[in-house]
Parts: sequence; C-alpha cells; structure tokens
Amino acid sequence: MRDVTKDNITDVFMSYMGEDMNPRLREVLSSLVKHLHAFARETNLTHEEWNTGIAFLEKAGEISDAERHEFVLLSDVLGLSSLVDMLHNRPEGTSSSVLGPFHITGSPDLAVGADMRKDFDDTVLLVEGIVKDPDGNPIPGATLDIWQTAPNGLYSSQDPDQDTYSFHGLQKVGDDGRYAFTSVRPVEYTVPSDGPVGDILRACGRHPWRPSHLHFIAEAEGFRPLVTEVFPEDDKYLDNDTVFGVRKDLVMTYVPMPAGSFPEEGYELSGKVPGDYLKVNFDLTLVPKD
Ligand code: BEZ
Ligand code: FE
Repeated sequence: MRDVTKDNITDVFMSYMGEDMNPRLREVLSSLVKHLHAFARETNLTHEEWNTGIAFLEKAGEISDAERHEFVLLSDVLGLSSLVDMLHNRPEGTSSSVLGPFHITGSPDLAVGADMRKDFDDTVLLVEGIVKDPDGNPIPGATLDIWQTAPNGLYSSQDPDQDTYSFHGLQKVGDDGRYAFTSVRPVEYTVPSDGPVGDILRACGRHPWRPSHLHFIAEAEGFRPLVTEVFPEDDKYLDNDTVFGVRKDLVMTYVPMPAGSFPEEGYELSGKVPGDYLKVNFDLTLVPKD
C-alpha cells in the first residue's frame, strides 16, 4: 500500500500479515495493534510523548537482568498480571494471585508442623489448613511451596543477612491433605521503586506498598497448579495493594491465641511456646486439570 493514511493504517497493518501465520498470533497481534493505534488516536499522542514512552522501555530493559524483571513489575503495577490471572481463574477453586519476583526454586523440605521462623525472634504464627478438591476431599501428597518476608520486611534474596532459603519451605501434605507450619507474621513492604516503574508510580501519585502476605504454590497430580497468596484482614494496604493482588477469598484472620494454648505435640515448636501466639487457618482448593 503506497497511500497509507492515519485512517487506514490499522487495516493496512492487518493486510501485511501472511496467510499462513499462526492463527492465535494473528488474533493477539491484530487486537494489540488495533488498540495501540486507537490509543494513539484517542490521546492524539505527540512525538515528545512517544519519545518518553520509548525512553521508559529502554530504561526498563537496561535495569532488567536475571533477578530483576522490570517489565513484569510494570505489568504488575498496571494491573495486567492480575487481570490475566483473573481471566483464567476458576470460581470453584482458591483464587490465584501474583507470583512476584521473590520466589526461588530448591527450597528446603519443611515437614508438616515444622518451624520456618528459625532464629528470628517474634510472636509465633501457626499456619495450617487442608489442601482439598472442589468437593471438599483432601488431596493427599499435594506439595506447597511457601515463602514470605522476614520481620524486617525483606525477602531472603533482598537481604545479605539472611540465608538463601530463610522463610522459604517446601511442604508435602499428609494423607489427610493437612499442611501446618510455624513462622512469624509477614510484614507489608514496597515493590522495587528505584527504577522506571517507581517513576511511573510517583508520577501517578501512587505508593509502592503491598499488604503483608504469605505466598503459596500448591501442586498435586491431576490438578491445576495454584500460585497464590493470603492476606490478613487488618492490613492497612489491603484495599490498595499496588499490584492488585488481593481477592476476597484470599483474606484471612490472624487469631490471637492465649498463653499456654500452643499444641503440646505435633509441631517442632511444641513445648517451646509458653506465651501467646497467632493462628491462621486457611484451606486451599485446587481445581482438577481439564
Ligand atoms: C511480591 O509479592 O513479592 C511481589 C509481587 C509483585 C511485584 C513485586 C513483589
Ligand atoms: Fe510477596
């Protein structure tokens, strides 16, 4: 086409795609370009703004490496990661939520009832629940990959003072589908805001905070893997998580338990928690694979 105009350029783009192109790629790319062109028309995008956008993408590329994924963070703070999650969520299962950049592979085994708190001195938190199917039947042998911040608000990969696997554990549930571990209450923290995504947050008058949460990846043979996180109802950022990860069914309560009531057996810390502690009960429902 030699007569490309601002009115026909979207159709011209479509006409340039080959006949034998992958049909799904055609669908996704056509829609992307249609919306991109509509966005430029709607905002009457200027050269200067286009340049700013390109410079932003370049900065995001420059700051990214094997550990830092600025484009994923961009997708997170724009709500795209959460939207994609919710598009594929199944209502009969526990909602999924963002993975975030602090998951690491190879976490150590954490037996049912074991302690993740190690030498961090804080109020003990007992977390337990059942991994079950949508009919309520326990799923024996399911595995849970669990991770969280230390009380200083840092994940182990952000903190040279913590061991690599501090506050990370891999638990295989028993025949009754039950998981249990002790830890400390995770704390709220900020997403990395020293890069271009931080600039966007500031330019939008937004804060970089996430409500405190416990991360889980639950997996079991024959079931869809679930990547999720659970949040306490009393967190001050629950209603304005900067990455839009909170769902109603992922909100739980830390129940204060009186001194002397910690179970006398079945936990690594049994007999070692004389004072009060916190307890949360949270079941995870996995959906069978299609
Ligand atoms: C997190 O939960 O660890 C996280 C999620 C998205 C962006 C940054 C951090
Ligand atoms: Fe997190």
